[in-house]
Amino acid sequence: MSSFILILATVLPTAFLLKSLVDEKTAVNQMMIADFNNKIKDLDSLAESLQKLETSSLLRDAKLTYLENQLSALKQNKTNSDSIINTKVENVINSWEEDVSKVEDMTQCLACNPSIPTWSSNSYTFNVKESVTVGTVIGKLLSNVCTGYGVSVAYTMYKGFNFTINKVTGEIITATSLDREKQQRYEHIVSATVSCTEKTSKSQNVSLAINIEDVNDNAPVFTNTNYNVLVSPSARIGEQVLSVTAIDRDENENGQVQYEKTPESVPFKIDQQFGTISVASSFDSSVYNFQVLAKDGGSPQLSSSANVTITLRE
Ligand SMILES: *[C@@H]1O[C@H](CO)[C@@H](O)[C@H](O)[C@H]1NC(C)=O
Ligand SMILES: *[C@@H]1O[C@H](CO)[C@@H](O)[C@H](O)[C@H]1NC(C)=O
Ligand SMILES: *[C@@H]1O[C@H](CO)[C@@H](O)[C@H](O)[C@H]1NC(C)=O
Ligand SMILES: *[C@@H]1O[C@H](CO)[C@@H](O)[C@H](O)[C@H]1NC(C)=O
Repeated sequence: MSSFILILATVLPTAFLLKSLVDEKTAVNQMMIADFNNKIKDLDSLAESLQKLETSSLLRDAKLTYLENQLSALKQNKTNSDSIINTKVENVINSWEEDVSKVEDMTQCLACNPSIPTWSSNSYTFNVKESVTVGTVIGKLLSNVCTGYGVSVAYTMYKGFNFTINKVTGEIITATSLDREKQQRYEHIVSATVSCTEKTSKSQNVSLAINIEDVNDNAPVFTNTNYNVLVSPSARIGEQVLSVTAIDRDENENGQVQYEKTPESVPFKIDQQFGTISVASSFDSSVYNFQVLAKDGGSPQLSSSANVTITLRE
């Protein structure tokens, strides 16, 4: 019993001390955070007034300098603070760095002194199906330029007959029909030009490539519509008598041709892959007419046919 009181008597003051230390620290932290928050408000209203198109560039520059000094002071304090505050300060600094760069952009706009535009990518590649209709937006090019306050950006494409670019939005739009079998890839130079209402302008080029993707828009075409051959009546089974060919201008399976014949009853067979026609059984007539079909592997499938006449020699 007595030893319990003794322990309590020694532990309690330590606990109180610790608690008050923690409280104090929390209070300090909260004060610092409140302080930072106030500063943020302060700087916020500064940025706001900057946005109201200050006429005096001296005033603007002074404010910008002030913003930057505040920022570096915050950074300085950050290195002296503990980790809870660090996180807070980190967020403040990040948001302030963004704001300062915005203000810098704004200052540049206000001074009507455009910098060379930069592109959000080194080069652009878009893929588009050859079947798209005229007027389809196939992609968008973006430059990282500050606009407003008398500064504007305009996009232009060099020699882009089959495409246009929306001068304001940077959207690439088809201007003609496309045909992969005519042209598979387009390469163009696009420029972004930043200019002030009155005078100066600066531009920067970027390269644009457009790949046209195949759709199954071509049927196989036979090199002849009618094939006529004379065959010896003594031709043996398996002997090749004719070879038919159909060409499909599409790509991959869209352009892969398979051959068939109809009707089945004639004594000839056709090689599905190569279109070679050979004797399949013995002859029972002196003239044979049949049709050959060429089908591609596209979906939906396209096909065409040709007529074959095989006459046995007298
Ligand atoms: C940085 O810390 C010092 C000393 O604690 C203080 O006087 C000053 O106002 C702080 N600056 C900022 C920007 O918080
Ligand atoms: C691309 O545009 C040119 C010029 O207008 C035109 O002659 C050509 O046919 C177009 N290309 C295709 C694949 O339509
Ligand atoms: C952009 O490209 C065009 C066409 O090739 C060229 O005439 C122009 O000088 C280029 N502009 C810049 C800024 O490089
Ligand atoms: C093939 O023959 C059929 C029937 O004899 C005919 O209707 C068709 O037009 C012919 N096709 C060609 C490509 O000559």
